[in-house]
Amino acid sequence: MKRVFSGIQPSGTLTIGNYLGAMRQFVDLQEEADCLFCVVDMHAITVPQEPADLRRNTRSLAALYLAAGIDPERSVLFVQSHVPAHAELGWILQCVVHFGELGRMTQFKDKSTKKNVVTAGLFTYPALMAADILLYQADLVPVGDDQKQHLELTRDIAERFNARFGHTFTVPEVMIPKVGGRIMSLEDPTKKMSKSDESAGAYISMLDDADTIRRKIARAVTDSGREVRYDTAEKPAISNLMTIYALCAGKSLADVEAMYEGKGYGVFKKDLAEVVVATLEPIQARYRELVESDEIEHILREGARKARERAAATLDQVKERIGFLL
Ligand code: AMP
Ligand code: TRP
Repeated sequence: MKRVFSGIQPSGTLTIGNYLGAMRQFVDLQEEADCLFCVVDMHAITVPQEPADLRRNTRSLAALYLAAGIDPERSVLFVQSHVPAHAELGWILQCVVHFGELGRMTQFKDKSTKKNVVTAGLFTYPALMAADILLYQADLVPVGDDQKQHLELTRDIAERFNARFGHTFTVPEVMIPKVGGRIMSLEDPTKKMSKSDESAGAYISMLDDADTIRRKIARAVTDSGREVRYDTAEKPAISNLMTIYALCAGKSLADVEAMYEGKGYGVFKKDLAEVVVATLEPIQARYRELVESDEIEHILREGARKARERAAATLDQVKERIGFLL
């Protein structure tokens, strides 16, 4: 059975981009793989976080994982900071990765330009991410397209370590959905949809109510012409909306194109809003129940216990290999 690991940062409410690009794959993978899913709070603090917000967002993200269909009986769901091995292996891998490699990461460049303060943690972030994955000997890492470069670096780190100290880590494969790996902003189809966008109109939050979703989709930018056609070069905005439609409705892009032939943008957008509402409403209902209960605390405690147990085997071996006195 393949082992799967992935993580999401508790840095604000997830968008439909996070859901379609990442979380939905996680839910499907539970059927066939041994899965671990993590709330990566240690990654979140690489940029400033209000303590009360971080605490609330960590709980909320755990509730969303569960509401979206992560089953704690089948998968290990836990919070990164509850398993100290992540910090320990993260440090060791900071001493394996090269300064120049970290400097080439586009996420670091994006997140550090025009900022007054850039923490050292933001720079070494990929070493901690590699630790998350390599600790559990993951075979497969489902992520959105923006994490591809970090996964390539994780593979390089694993290979370098294995070559120098003997085979220790499984070299993981990245898994990016063919459709939905990069959902774009509703206001600017050249930009990725992001929960940290200053404009709330740019994204659909997984917790937006039905009217907010309808309003945001009605206002979403479209391209010139009126034809609902999938063409990312000529019609990037409509192609993005079609991708969201296809994934939420379980149809192919060709199906969507055929359904709206000759119907124009207005009809398409109205239907799209309903398809998105229908996808998110059941998740939101489960979320509201969970977030009120103390079930989350139990599940996370149990998840941390299982994760700690599994992480220890790899970490002990790493320490022995590099020459730490045991
Ligand atoms: P983050 O919120 O940065 O922790 O991202 C969590 C997961 O969602 C990662 O696998 C990202 O690659 C994925 N993701 C984030 N934004 C998008 C997007 N706009 N489209 C598709 N996947 C995304
Ligand atoms: N860097 C990822 C993101 O921003 C989150 C993350 C941290 C992650 N550790 C991970 C994703 C390990 C996959 C595997 O989206």
